[in-house]
Amino acid sequence: MMAKITASVFTSHVPAIGAAMDLGKTHEEYWKPLFKGYEYGKRWMKDNKPDVIFLVYNDHATAFSLDFIPTFAIGTAPEFQPADEGWGPRPVPVVKGHPDLASHIAQSVIQQDFDLTIVNKMDVDHGLSVPLSLMCGQPPADNFEWPCPVIPFAVNVVQYPVPSGQRCYNLGKAIRKAIESYDQDINVHIWGTGGMSHQLQGARAGLINKEFDNAFLDKLINDPQAAADIPHIDYVREAGSEGIELVMWLIARGAMNDVNGGKAPLLKQRFYHVPASNTAVGHVILENQF
Ligand code: DHB
Ligand code: FE
Repeated sequence: MMAKITASVFTSHVPAIGAAMDLGKTHEEYWKPLFKGYEYGKRWMKDNKPDVIFLVYNDHATAFSLDFIPTFAIGTAPEFQPADEGWGPRPVPVVKGHPDLASHIAQSVIQQDFDLTIVNKMDVDHGLSVPLSLMCGQPPADNFEWPCPVIPFAVNVVQYPVPSGQRCYNLGKAIRKAIESYDQDINVHIWGTGGMSHQLQGARAGLINKEFDNAFLDKLINDPQAAADIPHIDYVREAGSEGIELVMWLIARGAMNDVNGGKAPLLKQRFYHVPASNTAVGHVILENQF
């Protein structure tokens, strides 16, 4: 009996989405179409509840800063506090980790020659909490917790040099091996978050590129190696400076069955929406078939 990866989930993160949920604005005209796109995902999460979520995301100078910049950081702690990002921490549950599985993954992935940074204390910002909120909704007051433990996996996509799409894709394959060698009979989701096109700074602030984003979704789903081949300069030119967050989606995609000798996944959801603050929002659910 071994752990297995049952699905991958992909979603953008935008701080304003968290604020809309926290402040009860999800029914406003501006937000309605965005949240409609996640109704299926929320039902699907309830019907396909994992035992653990391996959540690939990026920290926005919250837990880390220019003082030290890990390329890949795995959270091995029993819990992770929601970060104060300037307006106080979001009113969301503490994230419960899975130290045993996280340590196993660290051991296995480092032995596969990816040098992870092991992090035993880490506050988690909107990069992690907004995807959880979108997929799980606001937990009820009388059971104020996320549906399962979460292993936070932070990727540096903020300060150059950042990892390539190909390295992220290969890392996903190593994480898959690690999870599948964990000798407990549990179901694991792997989530890739951040993106899609957006640029928050400089002369091109506000940039959105629907064509690039939809071509990326096509490749992610049907030809992930082609997505892994995209060089940094293309993300930055086409998807804006923060569009580089998309390389994180390749970690989750690299962990799926089809790119490791198995069957093609089922596409359960594909959604794309503009606008959400300054970011184009994309969302995909892929279910492994065995
Ligand atoms: C926005 C998007 C981000 O990814 C982020 O980290 C901060 C802000 C935005 O669109 O407003
Ligand atoms: Fe971001």
